[in-house]
Amino acid sequence: MKVLVTGGAGYIGSTICSALEDSGHTPIILDNLVTGRVEFTRGRIFYQDDIANVAGLERIFQEHPDIVAAIHCAALIIVPESVEKPYEYYTENVAKSLVLFRTLNRLGCNRVVFSSSASVYDTVPGFMVREDSPLRPGSPYARTKYMMEMILQDFCHAYGMKGIALRYFNPIGADPKMRSGLQVRNPSLVLGKLVNTARGLQPAFEITGTTWPTRDGTGIRDYIHVWDLAEAHVMAVEQFDQVFERLGGGQSYVVINLGTGRGVTVRELVEAFERVYGKPINKVEKPPRPGDVAGAYANADTALRLLGWKAKLSIEQAIADALKWAEIRDRVLHYE
Ligand SMILES: NC(=O)c1ccc[n+]([C@@H]2O[C@H](COP(=O)([O-])OP(=O)(O)OC[C@H]3O[C@@H](n4cnc5c(N)ncnc54)[C@H](O)[C@@H]3O)[C@@H](O)[C@H]2O)c1
Repeated sequence: MKVLVTGGAGYIGSTICSALEDSGHTPIILDNLVTGRVEFTRGRIFYQDDIANVAGLERIFQEHPDIVAAIHCAALIIVPESVEKPYEYYTENVAKSLVLFRTLNRLGCNRVVFSSSASVYDTVPGFMVREDSPLRPGSPYARTKYMMEMILQDFCHAYGMKGIALRYFNPIGADPKMRSGLQVRNPSLVLGKLVNTARGLQPAFEITGTTWPTRDGTGIRDYIHVWDLAEAHVMAVEQFDQVFERLGGGQSYVVINLGTGRGVTVRELVEAFERVYGKPINKVEKPPRPGDVAGAYANADTALRLLGWKAKLSIEQAIADALKWAEIRDRVLHYE
């Protein structure tokens, strides 16, 4: 089946495209390359365009009337940047998704899988969150995700669309077949920073926050291999209609956590990294950064119940894949 993947030239979107292809499907990529990489679109159907360009979307659907679903990954994603540039974040993520959803609906593409984020959750005692746990998005970025979920839910209710919002926990790793991985040179994500420290590109790994009420004082997260995450999207589009049959009750919108169901602290992640890497790395302890939270991990029961999906790959495998990707990245990507 053909699936529109917005943001398909990005880290997660490109991995989803590989997983779709491995399952015999055809991704149609729509990406403006603001952070994505053209190298990840090679050999794939690719439209370099903005998600809010209505004429561009019309052209895609004219040329591919057999698209059965859309996976909407395109977004700006850097939390501190969203604090400095809320206008850009609300425009790119919220206003443009509004246009995208409207246009998809008008063009008859009423199955939407949306990349949401665990950053919408409030911190809860014990740190495990279910889909109905309290929400408290703590940054402009997280609020854009929250708003996009609300918009999608209201559109599903009003306009005959169906939506699956997948709340990702903390994606790490790279495509195990090394077709893609984290493309940014100075990643804001934790594993990217560990890899850069190991490779001598930054002097030390900063453990930001050591007095959180967790088992060792450092933040707790649910690190999920990006390949597991990508496969969940394949299952979501393959079983899209069945998901709503399983839900019953005429529902048209559902939220699903995508995590391993296991919380890992920053110190535990660093230890796992050092085990896989084979030697210790430089680390320094720092106070939390503005907007940091103790964290959360997923209750992943809904994904198992509705999609038959659960994470299979270990954190060690994700670290090994990230390290392997770091070795070859500059040969795959041609930086100016
Ligand atoms: N990486 C994470 O830790 C994480 C966690 C939770 C949720 N998510 C969500 O997953 C999705 C993908 O994230 P990622 O890590 O792959 O980021 P990324 O920056 O690698 O990918 C985003 C892609 O969207 C494209 N894009 C952005 N704005 C666009 C626009 N207006 N029109 C067309 N294309 C546009 C970019 O060029 C890029 O290729 C995002 O929606 C993000 O919010 C990511």
